[in-house]
Amino acid sequence: MGVNSIIIGTGSAVPEKVLTNAELEEMVDTSDEWITTRTGIKARHIATKETNSQLASEAARRALKMAGVNPQDLDLIIVGTLTPDMPMPSVACLVQKELKARKAGAFDLSATCSGFLYGLAVADKFVKCNRRAKILVIGSEVLSRRTNWNDRTTCILFGDGAGAAVLTGTREDRGILSTHLHADGSLWELLTIRGLGTAHPVNQEILDKGWQYIQMQGRDVFKHAVRALESVAWEALNANGWTGDEVDLLFSHQANMRILDFLRERLGLEQEKVFINIHKYGNTSAASIPIALDEANRAGRLEPGMKILMVAFGGGFTWASAAMRW
Ligand code: UT7
Repeated sequence: MGVNSIIIGTGSAVPEKVLTNAELEEMVDTSDEWITTRTGIKARHIATKETNSQLASEAARRALKMAGVNPQDLDLIIVGTLTPDMPMPSVACLVQKELKARKAGAFDLSATCSGFLYGLAVADKFVKCNRRAKILVIGSEVLSRRTNWNDRTTCILFGDGAGAAVLTGTREDRGILSTHLHADGSLWELLTIRGLGTAHPVNQEILDKGWQYIQMQGRDVFKHAVRALESVAWEALNANGWTGDEVDLLFSHQANMRILDFLRERLGLEQEKVFINIHKYGNTSAASIPIALDEANRAGRLEPGMKILMVAFGGGFTWASAAMRW
């Protein structure tokens, strides 16, 4: 019998400071009413003193504690992020230092909002080669540092935070059943942070153009997101012979409440089968799914045998799915 990867612990951490829609009304020309009806977001957590690696390490500690795994027994740490503390070293190496995970390899994975599911797919392959491997997969972001707080079309959307999961192997008939990864780099310009990389290093012209910030063609991204999320969801369902309404809990990247509603309708899911926390955190990119997974887990919403579907979409473009039997 083959080996399946199972999640044996989850954890999450968000910065202390909460930024509400009412506070945003004081900062840009927007309203709680517009933000709520167009996105479903009511508040988001914003890092003031916390760094990405601190949030990631805290989420990791909580996941390891739940799993009962000693950091020194970890084989690998993968961090999905687009907002690392610095270009070098990786967030994963800083987490490895923080946890004293001496045996673990560590690397960051750049797949924007799909980063956690890409990480899960990579970890799953490792576990399939070594049933006893213990792998930490983290999604962690401090998007607020890459947000233009004068641009009302983007600054209302994003939040900071981290989520983590500990994986290991089992011969039982449960755990990760499928992963599917996709990308379309030809559409990169619709959602990008152009500047401060090596193509456009920091200089006054780059800063004046606002290229240090997230820039998004929201309406175009929305159209691609709904199409890609629906198609990757059906791909996962078909690969496992599941119908839409067989899914017990859907974890979709929390980018927009209207996207979540669209997916729920297209898959024929009841309202309570779609996990929603966008109102509290906004769009936290790679952290979005693992934070949701941890909240559901700690709230006792994940029961053995449940059919779990996870789907994500983000800049690049990237999109991905993971289907699990919990
Ligand atoms: O994480 C990766 C994936 N990301 C996504 O999936 C995000 C996808 N996109 C979206 O969620 C939506 O496109 C947004 C929430 C970003 C925008 O919603 P929309 O319904 O697409 O609005 P819009 O961009 O078409 O703008 C409608 C109007 C515009 O005014 P006019 O041109 O009609 O006069 C905007 O200027 O709303 C205006 N507007 C705002 N008004 C108040 C844009 N932002 C705001 C704002 N407050 N914050």
